[in-house]
Amino acid sequence: MQTPVSVIKPRRRRRYLVRFDPKSVPHFFTDVLVIGSGIAGLRAAMAVGNELNTLVVTKDKLVQSNSAYAQGGIAGVLDPLDEFARHAADTIAAGKGLSDPGIVNLVVREAPERIHELVAFGAEFDTNEGGIALTREGGHSHPRVAHALGDATGKEVMRAIIERVQQDQRTYVWQKTFTLDVLTHEGSCRGAIVWNPHHGKTFLWAKQTILATGGSGALYRETTNPSIATADGHAIAFRAGAELRDMEFMQFHPTVLYIAGSSRHLITEAVRGEGAHLVDATGYRFMQDYDQALELAPRDVVSQSIVKQMRKTRHPCVYLDLTHIDRERVERRFPHIRRVCAEFGLNLARDRIPVRPGAHYMIGGLTVDAEGRTTVPGLWAAGEVTSSGLHGANRLGSNSLLEGLVFGLKCGRGAARIALDEADSFSAPPVVSVPPSADQDDEELDIVDLRNSLQSLMWRDVGIARHENGLHDASRQVEFWSRYVDSREFQQPTGWELQNMLCTARLMISSAMQRTESRGVHLRSDYPRPDPDQARHITVVADEKGPEDG
Ligand code: FUM
Repeated sequence: MQTPVSVIKPRRRRRYLVRFDPKSVPHFFTDVLVIGSGIAGLRAAMAVGNELNTLVVTKDKLVQSNSAYAQGGIAGVLDPLDEFARHAADTIAAGKGLSDPGIVNLVVREAPERIHELVAFGAEFDTNEGGIALTREGGHSHPRVAHALGDATGKEVMRAIIERVQQDQRTYVWQKTFTLDVLTHEGSCRGAIVWNPHHGKTFLWAKQTILATGGSGALYRETTNPSIATADGHAIAFRAGAELRDMEFMQFHPTVLYIAGSSRHLITEAVRGEGAHLVDATGYRFMQDYDQALELAPRDVVSQSIVKQMRKTRHPCVYLDLTHIDRERVERRFPHIRRVCAEFGLNLARDRIPVRPGAHYMIGGLTVDAEGRTTVPGLWAAGEVTSSGLHGANRLGSNSLLEGLVFGLKCGRGAARIALDEADSFSAPPVVSVPPSADQDDEELDIVDLRNSLQSLMWRDVGIARHENGLHDASRQVEFWSRYVDSREFQQPTGWELQNMLCTARLMISSAMQRTESRGVHLRSDYPRPDPDQARHITVVADEKGPEDG
């Protein structure tokens, strides 16, 4: 049975972020365009095959993506004592009624093949006498998380994938290239308009386009994500008229290093998987008051329990305690976190490590089918920018690199199949004849200040616990900021990122207001329980009737 759906239609303020004269910008042509260079984007590029040209554009360096920061690992049934049915059941249980069982089954069944394929690409996973070493994370009923370099799985996996992509003769990569918008003509995607310092605004015409731009953690003051996670793909898709889904579901990771002056560094859940305790300021192991699975309860439960305990103890954080675990084991297993803690004078094995939750993973995103097709013909999507049906209302740890691999591969293959049948003619521009603007230097607007204010607002009012009053305040404030930010035309990525962040914040807030219940990662303090009548997706599509300025 299909999960029911409620639809909201926020106003679209503009179709394109910038105006341009198609006669005076460079045009490039490719068969398949991939936007984003995380695990989903690069796996898609690899899957296109060598009969076609593939262009990957990424707004930072190739090595800079959320995927590369993943610590914990990739979940998959690799232990003979484990079962697909258990991995699927754990995923569905975490998803609190909104996972699609068909998609869950498809993904968990592919996991072992995708992980072994990474090994074939050269990724070196940690091993023990039984083969690939496996650990447990919250919500998993069996050890099934493969990891690398102890606690730097993303770094190792992305190293292997990037090396592989760089060997591909027909895959080209443009780094430091910001995608402003996807181009649409008669309802279909035809490529993208991008900007880089070398070419300026540029049209990239493509037979098929794959969006894999990652998440939106940078909308929050406290986050594990790098500052590039500005929800560009969510906003691009909204402007292009694609359907997005479940935008209220932002997952908060329970344990983010909380030291004044340090970046908010993720402390992998695997630390708890290896036996670490969570204690409050008085040293009390408080998870026993909240869930019988203790520190290995699902993430939403642990994050929400930490917040309650911080409130109870009037203390700004709780602590991870590894002092009862063999010191050498801790140091061998978590070399990266050990180094980060040491920089701030903390010994991971001997000291209590201050932590609190932070925004970690955007569960909501473009609605995609089982092949990765979005609702806009010619536009595919994979990874964190999507809502595939795998995570439901709460993502199980280490299922996301897996999702990126599975859907990246599907998108790459699907896009290639269609591009191979398309003729080599690109009928260009009527779509996009928009009068060019004069270059503006906008000294009146302090972009950094506004970005910081948005992050604080989202953390306060659209954070772990939400309430109607706070959501209304956030909505009013974001509308106010958007009015004067959206009417401007920026010339640099910092301005475009701010516009994308505000656009996505609007979608997240209106979805969070619509869901008047608590489910998974969406906790409403004014509606603290799940409402069976709301076991439905909330979809978001732009109201095309709204005013547009180009
Ligand atoms: O805790 C972690 O290492 C996070 C894993 C994940 O987000 O999948």
